[in-house]
Amino acid sequence: MTPTGTGQPLGPLAVLSEIASRLAEGGEIVATVTDVIQRLRAALDASEVSLWLHAEGDVRRSVVAGVPSMSAADVGAALDGAGPPALVARRLVTMGQRIGVLAANDVSMKGDAPHLVTIVANLLAPELAHADDKHRLTGEVARSARQVEAERRFTARIIDSLPLGLYVVDREYRVQAWNRNRETGYQGVSRDLAIGKPIFEVLHRQPADALRAEFDEVFTSGRIQQFNIDSEASGSPRTYRITKIPMRLDDGVVTHVISIGEDITEWTTAQERWAQSEKLAAIGQLAAGVMHEINNPLATVAACAESLSLRLDDLRRAGCEVPPQADEFTRIIDQEVQRCKRIIDSLLTFSRPKSQEKLPIDLNAVVQQTLFLVKHHKRFKRLALHTLLDPSLEPVPGSYEQLIQVVMALLINAADAMPENGAITIRTRRGVTDGEAAIAEVIDEGSGIARADLPRIFEPFYTTKPPGRGTGLGLSVCYSIIADHGGRIEVDSAPGAGSTFRILLPNGNAPARPAQAAGAGS
Ligand SMILES: Nc1ncnc2c1ncn2[C@@H]1O[C@H](COP(=O)(O)OP(=O)(O)OP(=O)(O)O)[C@@H](O)[C@H]1O
Ligand SMILES: [Mg+2]
Repeated sequence: MTPTGTGQPLGPLAVLSEIASRLAEGGEIVATVTDVIQRLRAALDASEVSLWLHAEGDVRRSVVAGVPSMSAADVGAALDGAGPPALVARRLVTMGQRIGVLAANDVSMKGDAPHLVTIVANLLAPELAHADDKHRLTGEVARSARQVEAERRFTARIIDSLPLGLYVVDREYRVQAWNRNRETGYQGVSRDLAIGKPIFEVLHRQPADALRAEFDEVFTSGRIQQFNIDSEASGSPRTYRITKIPMRLDDGVVTHVISIGEDITEWTTAQERWAQSEKLAAIGQLAAGVMHEINNPLATVAACAESLSLRLDDLRRAGCEVPPQADEFTRIIDQEVQRCKRIIDSLLTFSRPKSQEKLPIDLNAVVQQTLFLVKHHKRFKRLALHTLLDPSLEPVPGSYEQLIQVVMALLINAADAMPENGAITIRTRRGVTDGEAAIAEVIDEGSGIARADLPRIFEPFYTTKPPGRGTGLGLSVCYSIIADHGGRIEVDSAPGAGSTFRILLPNGNAPARPAQAAGAGS
């Protein structure tokens, strides 16, 4: 018998009790089994002891102490009693299931081998089955934990990728989810600071009572609530759509509320522009019809006034007495008819701008020519005129005269908005897209325009100027001319803060678009 670690040979019983105690100690099963096999080998003086484990009835692997010379065929034959004489093989069976085979090559043929291998096989079988179960279970738990984690990260990534601010509160108003969008921006709060805190502490700038009422409404009604709010917290006026959505963890009561904040400023501006262009188009159509009807009688009045004046001359030549006011009256009739004609021309330009040939135009040259025209006018003498012209401006297709008309109308309005001294700045610059290749801004320090009035200023005849001072046609004509160029007019203005009128013109690469409403956003 091969000496053990103590140097003393061990009898089969001592070996068995040692093996049993090793198994009872537990620990890492593979290490224990290796030890068991070593001991079996020592007890039998066998050089070859092998443990084969089955998977679904097949010999799958030799986990420990696998011996190359011991073939699966020999082990199989030994089980049927037909193997090589020295080969002892015993099935490992537990709970009626075959889980493997323990085989030993009993070279010394001491006769203990069959007995010993059978007992060890019986000892090993339940331990191995248990270890296998445990191993499989641990694997499954780890796998499903990984899967759950992957799903959680996937959902979090979706929520973080949304271009919306999103958070979730529970019934105690404590924050349970807080997406990336809510971490950034002026009012951003980091997720670590928000999670678990009452929402009123996190959004401390908002009135707690109003916020609580919004959540309570969803908790009690179970219905989605939606409303828009205007905020200047980011420094510029923005409009947000807030949606509060009830969430139920099961089919019962509302357990959480999902709150979503979406910046809809651009959308609202586009809607307003669209509504305004629709309205202006309708007014234009109406005006065109009325003007057409007025044009003919007006021409008749003008012709009558002219022939009346000729008649007066004839009478005077014939020595007849002519009432002293007659000349004055015909002159007034003529003046007023001319005034009406100018109004009609403007209105017709508004409703159907005479589309003139568009040539490459330097917007800087347009600005300079307009300034040259207005500079000597007494209205502009008391004002400071500044220019900031971008020399890199590319030419855009346009009508030189019409664009001068637009810049002139904007300059006159700016001057009118500043009854005392003040400065007007005209700035040109390049835009970022083909649709706004050349931009000109007329910036004044005047009275400014109330937000409520902004949508009306492009309507024909809308004026706040005293009678005889303004007809209210200047901006409506500008609007039509710029729309005919495929561009648009924007306004930034607030009472007391001056106004900036901005015309944006496309270059030749921009896709042609239908007449665009003038933007009126402050
Ligand atoms: N730069 C500005 N600052 C303040 N208000 C302005 C400015 N430009 C236009 N407005 C407002 O818009 C209204 C309409 O302007 P618009 O040019 O169409 O007509 P108007 O100047 O009143 O008359 P018209 O141009 O026909 O002589 C003005 O009456 C004024 O209330
Ligand atoms: Mg005007």
